Formats: sequence, structure tokens, C-alpha cells
Amino acid sequence: MSISSPNQRPRRLRTNQAIRNLVSETQVRAEQLILPLFVREGLTEPKPIKGLPGVVQHTEGSLRIEMERALAAGIGGVMVFGIPNKRDPQGSEALNPNGVLSKAIRDIRAQVGDRMVVIADLCLDEFTSHGHCGVLGSPDAHGNCEVDNDATLEIYGRMAVVLAEAGAHMLGASGMMDGQVGATRAALDAAGYKDVSILAYAAKYASAFYGPFREAVESELDGDRKSYQQDPRNSRESAREIKLDAAEGADIIMVKPALAYLDIIKLASETVDLPIASYIVSGEMAMIEAAAAQGLINREPAILEALASVNRAGAGIICTYWAIEAAELLAKR
Ligand code: PBG
Repeated sequence: MSISSPNQRPRRLRTNQAIRNLVSETQVRAEQLILPLFVREGLTEPKPIKGLPGVVQHTEGSLRIEMERALAAGIGGVMVFGIPNKRDPQGSEALNPNGVLSKAIRDIRAQVGDRMVVIADLCLDEFTSHGHCGVLGSPDAHGNCEVDNDATLEIYGRMAVVLAEAGAHMLGASGMMDGQVGATRAALDAAGYKDVSILAYAAKYASAFYGPFREAVESELDGDRKSYQQDPRNSRESAREIKLDAAEGADIIMVKPALAYLDIIKLASETVDLPIASYIVSGEMAMIEAAAAQGLINREPAILEALASVNRAGAGIICTYWAIEAAELLAKR
């Protein structure tokens, strides 16, 4: 073999689009995409969210229209977050069967039936006045309160039953409390909801990329979630979390964020044989949108490349605010 004439020519398989399609190893499909949705109690007009073009806090009416678009685009599901009018330290509104989240789930289920997977976020942070994902324990000697893991589990169990009753197909256990999957599974089973599944946020990091989301849910958080969400410097810890959630009865494993954690997605797919999901979070979207808005990158190819990367790393399910638009782009290709 001379240097001027290689006998191996990988470029042959890149000659034209048809060949490239023929040998493509992955192909994201619309049904693999989940759209996160925010519903705000008492809102009269949809309210845009800074940094996330096209993402809004929905009213009941605008939610209905968005669901029609989602159905038309053929996406796989929606993940619903509710923002209540009233918040308190216990997050009581989370247990209200007529609260903003339960009501939205009921409306969405009535609209879509089984044509799409309806996922409800199972966490207290939208409902607590302190913004933490659980209830707080008694203050320590310095007056600091920690999130009380086990007291929170008891509330998650009751919230799970309320959301299942409202019609959720699946619950997104996103609070990063120890034992949350087991406690949720036990509560659902005891109430007769054996077929309501659990999307377990097994590996969820204390990330700086949640910024715009905190505005979207009008988060009251003062401080951080480092005592329950994971340290970005770790990956072996994720293997432990993923195995625990699988053992507790998780149906799907979630890795969050996505783009800065592709190695964790890969690790998850090699650690368990459950389906793997990953969430391209608000800050990850905002970076691409901001760069595109400044003309620094080409927006649509960048979105498709981000989705392909998450899929290639091992996530068969992708949560993304771009779900509808991406489904439309994929259909055009
Ligand atoms: C908490 C929750 C978070 C997100 C969704 N649910 C993170 C947090 O506030 O710590 C972030 C989603 C995003 O940034 O898009 N239950």
C-alpha cells in the first residue's frame, strides 16, 4: 500500500446522501421524543420563558392547542410540570386532586387517550415555598434545615397515587431522594396502579444548566440541591444510582442533563438492560439557541446533531423542548 493510494477508503460510504443514509447507525424517530410542558395555574395568556424560544408557561387553552400540535407531529409523549398559585413548606398543592398538575394530566389524557405517553413530574419543587424537591427536616445546631428524605418519600407515594388517578401513564421520579422508586412503586401497587410506570431520574446532576427552567417554574429555591442531586465530577456514583433504581422497580432510566453527560448515558446503557432516556435541559437548549441567534452556528443542523449525539450515546428516549420542531424537521429529511 502506497501512501498516495490507500486500500481502505471510508469516504466511499460518504459519497452521497443515499449511501450515507444506508449506512447510518442511528436514526432519531419522532416517537422517541418527549416534550416537557409547563402549565401555570391562573394564567390568562401563555407566558414566554427567557432563553427558550417557543417555550411558554401554558394556560389551559394554549395547552390544548400545543397537544394538538404534538399529536400531529407524532411525538412519543409529554412530560408535564405544574406551577400552582399557592405554595407552602409541605408542598400541599401537590396532593390536591384538583390542583394544577392533576387537572392538566386529566385534561391531556381526555384529549390524547393512549395515542401518546402522558408523563407527570413527580417532585415537590414546584409546590414548596422553599423550592426544594422535598420537605425540610428540623433545623440543626446552626439553624440549617436539610431535606428530609424519608418524610418526602411518604409524600411522593401519595402524590404518585393522585397523579395515577388523574390518568398519568407514567411518573417521572425526579426528586433524587433515596428509595424514591421503591416507595413510589409500593404506593402505586397498593392503590391498584400496577401498570403505571416509573421513569426514574437515576442519574440527575446538580447542574448549572437548569437556569432557564428555574424561571419557567418560578422556582423559589435559594441555595442549591447539592445535598441530593449528584456531583458533576462523578460517574461511578451514577452506576450505583442506576442499579439501585433498577432494583427498586424502575421501568426506564433517565440521565439528566444530556449533552454534558453523554458518558453517563453510555454508562447507563451498559449498566442495565432497561430503556434509557435523557433530558436536554433548559440551559443546554439556551446555549444552542443563543449561539444560533447570534449567527454563530446554524440552528437546525445543530438541533439535529444534538439529538443524534444523545441517541448515539445510548438514549433511545430524548426529552427535549425541541420535540415538535425536531419531529417536523426529521419528517422533512
Ligand atoms: C426538579 C427539576 C429540574 C428540572 C426539571 N425538574 C432541575 C432542578 O430545578 O434542579 C430541570 C429541567 C431543565 O432545566 O430543563 N424537579
